[in-house]
Amino acid sequence: MAKTLFVCSQCGNESPKWHGRCPGCGEWNTMVEERAVEAPRSGGSSLARKSAKPARPVALADVEAPALARYETGIGELDRVLGGGIVPGSLVLIGGAPGIGKSTITGGALGNLATAGRRVLYVSGEESAAQVKLRAERIGPHALTVPIVAETDLETVVATLEAERPEVCVVDSVQTLYANGMTGAPGSVGQVREVAGTLMRVAKERGIAVILVGHVTKEGALAGPRVLEHLVDCVLQFEGERERTYRTLRALKNRFGSTNEVGVFEMCESGLVEVADASSRFVAEATRAPGSVVLCAMEGSRPLLVELQALVAPTELVPPRRVANGVDRNRLALVLAVLARHAGLGLGSSDVFVSVAGGVRVDEPGADLAVALALASAANGVPLGSEEKPLAAFGEVGLTGELRYVAHADRRLAEASKFGLEPVLSPDGRIRTLRQALRAGLSGAEQVAQAA
Ligand code: TYD
Ligand code: MG
Repeated sequence: MAKTLFVCSQCGNESPKWHGRCPGCGEWNTMVEERAVEAPRSGGSSLARKSAKPARPVALADVEAPALARYETGIGELDRVLGGGIVPGSLVLIGGAPGIGKSTITGGALGNLATAGRRVLYVSGEESAAQVKLRAERIGPHALTVPIVAETDLETVVATLEAERPEVCVVDSVQTLYANGMTGAPGSVGQVREVAGTLMRVAKERGIAVILVGHVTKEGALAGPRVLEHLVDCVLQFEGERERTYRTLRALKNRFGSTNEVGVFEMCESGLVEVADASSRFVAEATRAPGSVVLCAMEGSRPLLVELQALVAPTELVPPRRVANGVDRNRLALVLAVLARHAGLGLGSSDVFVSVAGGVRVDEPGADLAVALALASAANGVPLGSEEKPLAAFGEVGLTGELRYVAHADRRLAEASKFGLEPVLSPDGRIRTLRQALRAGLSGAEQVAQAA
């Protein structure tokens, strides 16, 4: 039986026994089980093993790199987030809360690949083959063509991979596989690392693209994908609230593409449907009531129009509530402070709620101006924009109450103009401060047009 060793993930301290608290650095819950590597038995003064031969360095320019052919999954939004499809032999991790749709999207992608003539394999450690079949029936006939093994033993899975040699394999989920010879329960940090490490070796040796599905808890980690991030080539995060229909898929790490891309999906009767033109949905759904504004956001290289809503209500609580859904809490606090200090709008005795409609998350300073406008509109009970069309805005708010330029202004303006949302309230030559922007925004479209 292989020996195991417990290594502190903080300080690297090694111990033959597990400790709740690392004897080295005193951190709690950092001891992780690892397979012990046999110590070299050969003596001698040389640091290298006797049998080791030196490797010959090669100039990078002379390295032969075949053009990266990619497997297209047929799910446009997924391919875009991956940087153009799945790279052969790569290891992709898809993380997300339970019920978000990880099995649905990977099942659909494998179905498309199988239909396109690729050899695929679905390893289900979580559900029985019958359960997976029920889902596949909902996704469509292409998903039913996927071969499946319901298996949790890592060695069996590796043997199956060796025998079947698929081009793309999904392991759902990495937390359910179990490596014999490791003591931890499936899903523990040591097990998850061992499983992922073994699968990585098989993937690289045999040129199998492996998609690992992993759960994330609300807090973000727990023996989960976090410990794998450095190991895999690509980390995709599936987000959204289970109760809402919209879900976003974004790359947190991508060795073969940009990490700025975001895919938008909707969960329907027949599985996940791509929302290629998300802007038109969100604009059509915008309410135009006080507190509502359209934000010209950037999701990676793609402009996205989303409705941002604010509610300001008298509070009985000290301190009052500040609830942010889809925008950064700290940026909301900053905008509230600037509103109070530089725009004469103190909301210290009000509860404040800000949310991005549809459950989308926008994480960029360019949302500041829209947040400020929505808050001012909600506080005054005055709608922004007009009966026919909502007001669109973007821009960063600085600490001194000035408006700051943000990246890709031209693309944001073009997207707004595509939906007839003009003029857009944004930092330009004439509107320089938050106070000016609020005055223009709250007094109707003509004012915005004049000011802009
Ligand atoms: P699932 O892919 O099983 O989530 P995960 O693997 O991330 O845990 O599916 C999530 C939810 O989606 C499930 O509660 C049911 C719902 N769903 C639909 O609404 N329509 C469908 O066609 C499918 C397949 C699932
Ligand atoms: Mg699942």
